[in-house]
Amino acid sequence: MSAPAEKLKKLKADIAYHNHRYYTLDAPEISDASYDKLMRELLAIEAEHPELVTKDSPSQRVGGAVLDKFEKVTHRQQMLSLANALEQNEFVEFDERVRKSLGKDEITYTCEPKMDGLAIELVYENGEFVQGSTRGDGTIGEDVTENLKTIKILPLKLEGSTRGEPGNKKIPRTLEVRGEVFIRKADFKRMNEKLVKAGEEAFVNPRNSAAGSLRQLDSKLTASRPLSIYLYETGVVEGAEWERHQDKLKSLEGWGFPVNPKRWIVKGVDGVMKAWNELLAARHDLPYEIDGLVVKVDSSDERARLGQVSKTPRWAVAFKFPPEEMEAQVREIVVQVGRTGAITPVAELVPVFVGGVTVSRATLHNEQELRRKDVREGDWVFVRRAGDVIPEIVKVITAKRTSKVKEFVFPTRCPICGSPVKKEEDGVIQRCTGKTCPAKLQGRLRHFATRTAMDIDGLGDKVCEALLEAKLVTTVADLYKLTVKQLATLDRMGEKSAQNLFDAIQRSKNTQLKRFIYALGIPEVGETTGKTLADAFRDAKKLMAAKEEDLLKVKDIGPEMAKVIAGHFAEAENRAVVEQLLAAGVKPEPPEEVK
Ligand code: IVH
Repeated sequence: MSAPAEKLKKLKADIAYHNHRYYTLDAPEISDASYDKLMRELLAIEAEHPELVTKDSPSQRVGGAVLDKFEKVTHRQQMLSLANALEQNEFVEFDERVRKSLGKDEITYTCEPKMDGLAIELVYENGEFVQGSTRGDGTIGEDVTENLKTIKILPLKLEGSTRGEPGNKKIPRTLEVRGEVFIRKADFKRMNEKLVKAGEEAFVNPRNSAAGSLRQLDSKLTASRPLSIYLYETGVVEGAEWERHQDKLKSLEGWGFPVNPKRWIVKGVDGVMKAWNELLAARHDLPYEIDGLVVKVDSSDERARLGQVSKTPRWAVAFKFPPEEMEAQVREIVVQVGRTGAITPVAELVPVFVGGVTVSRATLHNEQELRRKDVREGDWVFVRRAGDVIPEIVKVITAKRTSKVKEFVFPTRCPICGSPVKKEEDGVIQRCTGKTCPAKLQGRLRHFATRTAMDIDGLGDKVCEALLEAKLVTTVADLYKLTVKQLATLDRMGEKSAQNLFDAIQRSKNTQLKRFIYALGIPEVGETTGKTLADAFRDAKKLMAAKEEDLLKVKDIGPEMAKVIAGHFAEAENRAVVEQLLAAGVKPEPPEEVK
């Protein structure tokens, strides 16, 4: 072999290895930049030696063909869909039916994540990829061969099996494999950011973007989209048979297909429930979106005996998770004023069950977001709640919009104190300019009391509101002047709770400097910066006296942050609050000296 040919062979093997680490195992070993470098080296050699370019080279995944339309493909074996089990008892019923039909006490199942993407079929003849299609209606799909070829991890030519028996099989003459095309969460985010930057419309969710990207008539466009694929079933196979599904998956892996390594082989309902709970707990840490657990009878013989009803097999079921995205109607759009005066539009919704909880409001972030999404009162929208993030409005369902709905007018005055609203320099955040706005003060009180700040138990939203209403406080420092008697006059506050709250306030006097700094509610200063400042200045008064240039000398404090902090303490009221707190007996302990 010539030197360039040797080098190419090595590069191809390296690229394939890193594709496997990233796309199959979700454990990349190199950075995107290093991966790009390998790819560029390969392209350079191929440009100089066109005779060395082979069909299976990663350079051939850039797309090219532009089609007028997709040809229709009739699947040799129907592509089935799955029946759903929405709750545990529905899964128990499924298991009962299976056991009864087979006359067995306990079934062995393979459990796999239910990928939220687009079902496809790939056809290999003598190990070579010849055709790929979408599921379509299960009988007839669309020919998306050229587009599928652009997916980096999809093998164009199969490898001899390297796995041990019984997964180890010779490559069959004909092999139809089925799986799911999807886009990873991180890739989706990056892709959307690029689209928005280029002035194009962002995709609603990863599933949508995977479907949209695969169904492009210009395969170059598909090649520019970060598609992933996992295979999980077979269609017609000539030249191989498996006794169990788990062996089939091992064969697919051995031949070079990406197969999701996350899977369970379990027995009975208990085993399935364990897998389901494990997957649900891991859901938000997975790099891709899923909407449940697919539970499949493991034995091929048992599958054949169970057969199918209409379009769904009797040997498998999709045991779903609570949906993370739902349709909801916007009742009203209100604006909230935060502790820094930032004005946030919030959509009040007709309650829906989404992401495992009932959601009745969703943030719209700011005026720019509200305009971009063009959400209006009365609109139907997609609401999304993934993990413990704040519910969000993904998109308006414009098809459901009636002509009656009117564009939302963003207020020019603070809805709480009536002061003018001013846009920040960045043009995005709008703030109430009122110095004594009660909404700001309430937000500041609440923040001051928070567990990770001064940790005052019992000083929640309601109590903060009541304190302001009764005009008992005008700054956070006033908290330390409150008596048990005064607290007891508040609405719904008994003697005992008043005493407890009083004690909690007194206890909070002994605190750490980092908590104290964070509690002051300086814009942009979170817990981490609070600690950085405490370590650097070791004294509240020193921090207060620090000039912008002193702050800039602190590691991790950038110019923006330095300006904001110095600006905060340049205001006499802000300095007065610190003085009053210290005078009231608050003792912020400096951090321990590190040698
Ligand atoms: S098996 C007859 N396994 O779910 C069984 N499907 O509602 C055919 N899906 O159309 C599918 N992850 O798009 C299977 N691990 C998995 C899956 C999976 C996602 C999708 C697939 C299918 C739909 C069925």
